[in-house]
Amino acid sequence: MGQAIVDAAAVLGFDPFDPTFRADPYRGYPPPGRLVRTDAGLWVTSSYALCEHALRDPSFGHGLGDEGETWRQGPRQRSFLTMDPPDHTRLRRLVSKAFTPRLVERLRPRVTALVDELLDAAAGARTDLIAALAYPLPVIVISELLGVPAADRDRFKDWSEALARGLDPDFLLPESEIVRREAARAEFNAYFRALAAERRASPRDDLLSALVAVSDGGDALTEEELLATCVLLLVAGHETTVNLIGNGALALLRNPAQLALFRSQPDAAPAAIEELLRYDPPVQFTLRTAVVDTELGGTPLPKGSFVLLLNGMANRDPSVFAEPDRLDLTRYAGGSAARHLSFGQGIHYCLGAPLARLEGQVALSKLFERNVTMAAGPVTYRDNLVLRGLESLHVDLSA
Ligand code: HEM
Repeated sequence: MGQAIVDAAAVLGFDPFDPTFRADPYRGYPPPGRLVRTDAGLWVTSSYALCEHALRDPSFGHGLGDEGETWRQGPRQRSFLTMDPPDHTRLRRLVSKAFTPRLVERLRPRVTALVDELLDAAAGARTDLIAALAYPLPVIVISELLGVPAADRDRFKDWSEALARGLDPDFLLPESEIVRREAARAEFNAYFRALAAERRASPRDDLLSALVAVSDGGDALTEEELLATCVLLLVAGHETTVNLIGNGALALLRNPAQLALFRSQPDAAPAAIEELLRYDPPVQFTLRTAVVDTELGGTPLPKGSFVLLLNGMANRDPSVFAEPDRLDLTRYAGGSAARHLSFGQGIHYCLGAPLARLEGQVALSKLFERNVTMAAGPVTYRDNLVLRGLESLHVDLSA
């Protein structure tokens, strides 16, 4: 699986490039059920129980060295997103010390002001919600949090896009995308190396300064680890939350009764966001490697087996969620629905979940305080496979 393979359907067991798949992937993925093996030898599952199990079971990881390298081509910088314990444990603990939920909650007034500003600027005319709100909000928030100067933000768009597309399995990427990804990584590293040096010399009240200074019983981040973490936070902060806002807005616009409910119960926004995350998640799947000989759902898997966990489809497993294809904003109101897998599960559970939830809640609540009507025309998606999000979403927005 080292080289880019053109026949994605043979590798994956579904055809991600079919236009009908992109419009509604939940009809194209293998239905929740057993673990299946594709023609190319990849194991795939969309069963909630199996996805959740594999995310929590330490026999499944990313595999350092031999097996891991065949998943990504050539040498690459790893962030802790794709590390196994004990390296993952050590780095996640250090970063968590700097990136706390308290720090995130302090951002609420700033996020609210930003959303108002962005909506005011766009209101009164036909507008693309992705360009006007969903994309800029997370970029500004994560940049301000990290301490990236506003003037530099625009430089990141291409680099970040290249890295986000590069999250897709290498064997589904054209060679040009892999080259673009590695070039973007080098530019990001050079940028953050210089900025980290500035913060080391004169610290400020920002996350980058906190990461530079973080220590835990004599342990600290090395320069390489610091750079990989900055890039991870920036890309994860950039390229996922945009899709929570975009996919969430589209789901509500297409379901007027649910939109009316959303508008009538502002206090229920946190539960509504959970359902929007379940219904059409920004991160569709993740990959794991069997790091020892193991089994999944009774199927023996030798060390080195790759397993594709279709978390987005597992969120629609009818054995776990009643009427899974229905958007039901009250699903999470009582606290009894199963947790969706949209932020993952287990040791890699999304570190940015509190920030993503905050931005999603504020953005969608404020947006739908206004009159918003969807413009006619087709809805198009970006090319990414792991990340699912709209290219644009044209609406008429009242002042
Ligand atoms: C709606 C928005 C978001 C979604 C759907 C999302 C989803 C995810 C998922 C599914 C994972 C686990 C991947 C795996 O197990 O292979 C993950 C990990 C991670 N996310 Fe997010 N994310 C979002 C926003 C953010 C934000 C805003 C940040 C930070 C600013 C962030 C930072 C991270 C980090 C650092 C990890 C790695 C955690 C680890 O490996 O221990 N995410 N995210």
